[in-house]
Amino acid sequence: MNQAATPLHIAEQFLIQQDWNAYTPEQHAVWAELVRWRMPQLEECACVEYLDGFHQIGLREDSIPNLAEVNKRLGPRTGWNATPVSGFLPPDAFFEMLAARQFPTTTWLRKRESLEYTPEPDIFHDVFGHVPMHAHPVFADFLQQYGRVCLRLMHDKDKLERMGRLFWFTVEFGVIRQKGTIKLYGSGLISSHGESTHVINRIAEGSPEIRDFDLDAVLNQEFLVSEMQKVLYAVESFDQIYEAAKEAEHRMA
Ligand SMILES: [Fe+2]
Repeated sequence: MNQAATPLHIAEQFLIQQDWNAYTPEQHAVWAELVRWRMPQLEECACVEYLDGFHQIGLREDSIPNLAEVNKRLGPRTGWNATPVSGFLPPDAFFEMLAARQFPTTTWLRKRESLEYTPEPDIFHDVFGHVPMHAHPVFADFLQQYGRVCLRLMHDKDKLERMGRLFWFTVEFGVIRQKGTIKLYGSGLISSHGESTHVINRIAEGSPEIRDFDLDAVLNQEFLVSEMQKVLYAVESFDQIYEAAKEAEHRMA
Protein backbone atom coordinates (compact mmCIF):
# COMPACT_ATOMS: atom_id res chain seq x y z
CA MET A 1 0.00 0.00 0.00
CA ASN A 2 1.35 3.42 -0.86
CA GLN A 3 -0.32 6.56 0.31
CA ALA A 4 0.45 10.23 0.89
CA ALA A 5 1.66 11.08 4.41
CA THR A 6 -1.23 11.95 6.70
CA PRO A 7 -0.71 15.30 8.46
CA LEU A 8 0.08 14.98 12.18
CA HIS A 9 -1.48 17.19 14.85
CA ILE A 10 -0.62 15.86 18.30
CA ALA A 11 2.83 14.62 17.29
CA GLU A 12 3.86 17.59 15.20
CA GLN A 13 5.68 19.35 18.05
CA PHE A 14 7.99 16.32 18.45
CA LEU A 15 9.13 16.11 14.84
CA ILE A 16 12.74 17.01 14.08
CA GLN A 17 15.12 16.77 11.14
CA GLN A 18 17.90 14.22 11.08
CA ASP A 19 21.19 16.08 10.58
CA TRP A 20 22.96 13.16 8.95
CA ASN A 21 26.11 15.14 8.13
CA ALA A 22 26.61 15.88 11.83
CA TYR A 23 27.34 12.24 12.72
CA THR A 24 31.02 11.75 13.50
CA PRO A 25 33.29 8.99 12.15
CA GLU A 26 33.25 7.52 15.68
CA GLN A 27 29.44 7.33 15.61
CA HIS A 28 29.47 5.58 12.23
CA ALA A 29 32.11 3.22 13.63
CA VAL A 30 29.88 2.41 16.63
CA TRP A 31 26.97 1.67 14.26
CA ALA A 32 29.23 -0.62 12.21
CA GLU A 33 30.35 -2.43 15.33
CA LEU A 34 26.75 -2.94 16.44
CA VAL A 35 25.68 -4.34 13.07
CA ARG A 36 28.70 -6.64 12.81
CA TRP A 37 28.01 -7.85 16.34
CA ARG A 38 24.34 -8.60 15.78
CA MET A 39 24.22 -9.89 12.20
CA PRO A 40 25.86 -13.33 12.54
CA GLN A 41 23.29 -14.35 15.16
CA LEU A 42 20.40 -12.76 13.27
CA GLU A 43 21.27 -14.48 10.00
CA GLU A 44 20.60 -17.71 11.90
CA CYS A 45 17.78 -16.65 14.18
CA ALA A 46 15.85 -13.69 12.77
CA CYS A 47 12.74 -14.37 10.68
CA VAL A 48 13.15 -14.18 6.91
CA GLU A 49 10.87 -11.11 6.71
CA TYR A 50 13.24 -9.14 8.96
CA LEU A 51 16.31 -10.12 6.94
CA ASP A 52 14.56 -9.32 3.64
CA GLY A 53 13.40 -5.96 5.02
CA PHE A 54 16.92 -5.08 6.14
CA HIS A 55 18.14 -5.29 2.55
CA GLN A 56 14.99 -3.87 0.96
CA ILE A 57 15.26 -0.60 2.90
CA GLY A 58 18.98 -0.35 2.14
CA LEU A 59 20.46 -0.55 5.64
CA ARG A 60 24.23 -0.67 5.61
CA GLU A 61 26.82 -2.11 7.87
CA ASP A 62 29.25 0.78 7.61
CA SER A 63 27.18 3.89 8.31
CA ILE A 64 24.28 5.21 10.35
CA PRO A 65 21.15 5.19 8.19
CA ASN A 66 20.09 8.36 6.47
CA LEU A 67 16.34 8.28 7.14
CA ALA A 68 15.49 10.16 3.95
CA GLU A 69 17.22 7.41 1.97
CA VAL A 70 15.50 4.66 3.99
CA ASN A 71 12.13 6.28 3.35
CA LYS A 72 12.73 6.47 -0.40
CA ARG A 73 12.85 2.68 -0.37
CA LEU A 74 10.33 1.96 2.36
CA GLY A 75 7.58 4.41 1.34
CA PRO A 76 6.86 2.88 -2.07
CA ARG A 77 6.70 -0.62 -0.51
CA THR A 78 4.23 -0.16 2.31
CA GLY A 79 3.56 3.56 2.78
CA TRP A 80 5.52 3.59 6.05
CA ASN A 81 8.11 6.21 6.94
CA ALA A 82 10.78 6.29 9.62
CA THR A 83 10.05 9.79 10.91
CA PRO A 84 12.66 11.56 13.09
CA VAL A 85 11.44 12.62 16.54
CA SER A 86 13.07 14.31 19.52
CA GLY A 87 12.76 11.37 21.95
CA PHE A 88 10.09 9.51 23.90
CA LEU A 89 6.62 10.52 22.80
CA PRO A 90 3.52 10.74 24.95
CA PRO A 91 1.12 7.90 24.09
CA ASP A 92 -1.36 9.97 22.07
CA ALA A 93 1.42 11.34 19.82
CA PHE A 94 2.96 7.88 19.46
CA PHE A 95 -0.33 6.25 18.43
CA GLU A 96 -1.20 9.10 16.11
CA MET A 97 2.06 8.48 14.26
CA LEU A 98 1.51 4.73 14.01
CA ALA A 99 -2.02 5.30 12.71
CA ALA A 100 -0.49 7.56 10.04
CA ARG A 101 2.16 4.96 9.08
CA GLN A 102 4.95 7.10 10.48
CA PHE A 103 7.29 5.38 12.87
CA PRO A 104 8.69 7.71 15.56
CA THR A 105 12.44 7.32 15.12
CA THR A 106 15.13 8.69 17.39
CA THR A 107 18.31 9.97 15.74
CA TRP A 108 20.89 9.73 18.55
CA LEU A 109 23.16 6.70 18.84
CA ARG A 110 24.38 4.96 21.98
CA LYS A 111 28.05 5.32 22.92
CA ARG A 112 30.67 2.62 22.60
CA GLU A 113 30.60 2.09 26.40
CA SER A 114 26.98 0.92 26.28
CA LEU A 115 26.75 -1.19 23.14
CA GLU A 116 24.35 -3.76 24.59
CA TYR A 117 21.82 -1.63 26.40
CA THR A 118 20.31 1.85 26.46
CA PRO A 119 17.43 2.72 28.79
CA GLU A 120 15.81 4.82 26.04
CA PRO A 121 15.52 3.77 22.41
CA ASP A 122 18.18 5.09 20.03
CA ILE A 123 18.51 4.91 16.24
CA PHE A 124 19.97 1.42 16.49
CA HIS A 125 16.97 0.09 18.38
CA ASP A 126 14.51 2.03 16.23
CA VAL A 127 15.95 1.55 12.74
CA PHE A 128 17.98 -1.63 12.96
CA GLY A 129 15.46 -3.21 15.33
CA HIS A 130 12.07 -2.01 14.14
CA VAL A 131 12.06 -0.54 10.66
CA PRO A 132 12.97 -3.59 8.52
CA MET A 133 9.69 -5.25 9.55
CA HIS A 134 7.76 -2.22 8.25
CA ALA A 135 8.70 -3.31 4.71
CA HIS A 136 6.49 -6.38 5.16
CA PRO A 137 2.94 -5.60 3.95
CA VAL A 138 1.05 -7.57 6.60
CA PHE A 139 3.20 -6.38 9.50
CA ALA A 140 2.83 -2.85 8.10
CA ASP A 141 -0.98 -3.12 8.17
CA PHE A 142 -0.91 -4.67 11.65
CA LEU A 143 1.13 -1.81 13.11
CA GLN A 144 -1.12 0.85 11.65
CA GLN A 145 -4.21 -0.96 12.90
CA TYR A 146 -2.62 -1.18 16.34
CA GLY A 147 -2.06 2.60 16.37
CA ARG A 148 -5.65 3.27 15.26
CA VAL A 149 -7.14 1.11 18.00
CA CYS A 150 -4.98 2.68 20.73
CA LEU A 151 -5.64 6.22 19.57
CA ARG A 152 -9.33 5.65 20.22
CA LEU A 153 -8.64 4.34 23.73
CA MET A 154 -6.78 7.35 25.10
CA HIS A 155 -9.56 7.91 27.66
CA ASP A 156 -9.26 4.38 29.08
CA LYS A 157 -6.04 3.63 30.96
CA ASP A 158 -7.02 0.06 31.68
CA LYS A 159 -7.63 -0.88 28.06
CA LEU A 160 -4.49 0.96 26.98
CA GLU A 161 -2.45 -1.05 29.44
CA ARG A 162 -3.85 -4.25 27.95
CA MET A 163 -3.04 -3.01 24.44
CA GLY A 164 0.47 -2.19 25.64
CA ARG A 165 0.94 -5.90 26.31
CA LEU A 166 -0.01 -6.69 22.71
CA PHE A 167 2.72 -4.28 21.56
CA TRP A 168 5.25 -5.76 23.97
CA PHE A 169 4.69 -9.39 22.98
CA THR A 170 4.66 -8.66 19.24
CA VAL A 171 6.47 -5.49 18.12
CA GLU A 172 9.08 -5.63 20.91
CA PHE A 173 9.41 -9.30 21.87
CA GLY A 174 7.61 -11.18 19.12
CA VAL A 175 8.76 -14.58 17.87
CA ILE A 176 7.43 -16.64 14.96
CA ARG A 177 7.64 -20.32 14.06
CA GLN A 178 9.27 -20.88 10.68
CA LYS A 179 10.26 -24.32 9.39
CA GLY A 180 9.79 -25.76 12.86
CA THR A 181 12.12 -23.28 14.55
CA ILE A 182 11.55 -20.21 16.66
CA LYS A 183 12.66 -17.07 14.81
CA LEU A 184 12.85 -13.52 16.12
CA TYR A 185 11.00 -10.47 14.85
CA GLY A 186 10.52 -8.17 17.87
CA SER A 187 12.86 -5.20 18.05
CA GLY A 188 13.70 -5.77 21.71
CA LEU A 189 15.11 -9.13 20.63
CA ILE A 190 16.61 -8.11 17.29
CA SER A 191 18.55 -5.20 18.77
CA SER A 192 19.73 -7.00 21.93
CA HIS A 193 22.31 -9.75 21.89
CA GLY A 194 21.57 -10.72 25.49
CA GLU A 195 17.78 -10.99 25.03
CA SER A 196 18.17 -12.94 21.79
CA THR A 197 20.64 -15.39 23.26
CA HIS A 198 18.29 -15.86 26.21
CA VAL A 199 15.54 -16.94 23.78
CA ILE A 200 17.59 -18.95 21.29
CA ASN A 201 19.70 -20.90 23.72
CA ARG A 202 16.88 -23.18 24.88
CA ILE A 203 19.05 -25.25 27.17
CA ALA A 204 20.11 -22.25 29.23
CA GLU A 205 18.54 -22.02 32.64
CA GLY A 206 15.88 -19.36 32.74
CA SER A 207 15.10 -19.37 29.00
CA PRO A 208 11.61 -18.01 28.47
CA GLU A 209 8.67 -20.32 28.08
CA ILE A 210 7.34 -20.03 24.54
CA ARG A 211 3.57 -20.33 24.29
CA ASP A 212 1.31 -20.28 21.26
CA PHE A 213 0.07 -16.77 20.54
CA ASP A 214 -3.37 -16.13 21.96
CA LEU A 215 -4.86 -12.65 22.05
CA ASP A 216 -6.59 -12.99 25.42
CA ALA A 217 -3.54 -14.52 27.04
CA VAL A 218 -1.35 -11.70 25.71
CA LEU A 219 -3.76 -8.96 26.82
CA ASN A 220 -3.66 -10.41 30.33
CA GLN A 221 0.06 -11.18 30.52
CA GLU A 222 1.95 -8.75 32.74
CA PHE A 223 5.64 -8.14 32.06
CA LEU A 224 8.63 -6.36 33.52
CA VAL A 225 10.60 -4.03 31.27
CA SER A 226 13.69 -4.32 33.46
CA GLU A 227 14.10 -8.12 33.43
CA MET A 228 14.79 -10.81 30.85
CA GLN A 229 11.46 -12.09 29.54
CA LYS A 230 10.00 -15.18 31.21
CA VAL A 231 7.30 -15.91 28.65
CA LEU A 232 6.98 -15.16 24.93
CA TYR A 233 4.19 -15.84 22.43
CA ALA A 234 4.95 -17.45 19.07
CA VAL A 235 2.81 -16.78 16.01
CA GLU A 236 2.56 -19.04 12.97
CA SER A 237 2.30 -16.14 10.52
CA PHE A 238 2.03 -12.36 10.56
CA ASP A 239 -1.61 -12.66 9.49
CA GLN A 240 -2.20 -13.82 13.05
CA ILE A 241 -1.12 -10.52 14.62
CA TYR A 242 -3.00 -8.51 12.01
CA GLU A 243 -6.16 -10.47 12.86
CA ALA A 244 -5.42 -10.00 16.56
CA ALA A 245 -5.24 -6.22 16.15
CA LYS A 246 -8.56 -6.28 14.28
CA GLU A 247 -10.08 -8.46 16.98
CA ALA A 248 -8.68 -6.17 19.69
CA GLU A 249 -10.70 -3.34 18.17
CA HIS A 250 -13.91 -5.31 18.90
CA ARG A 251 -12.79 -6.42 22.37
CA MET A 252 -11.95 -2.87 23.38
CA ALA A 253 -15.07 -1.25 21.91
FE1 LIG B 1 11.03 -0.47 20.48
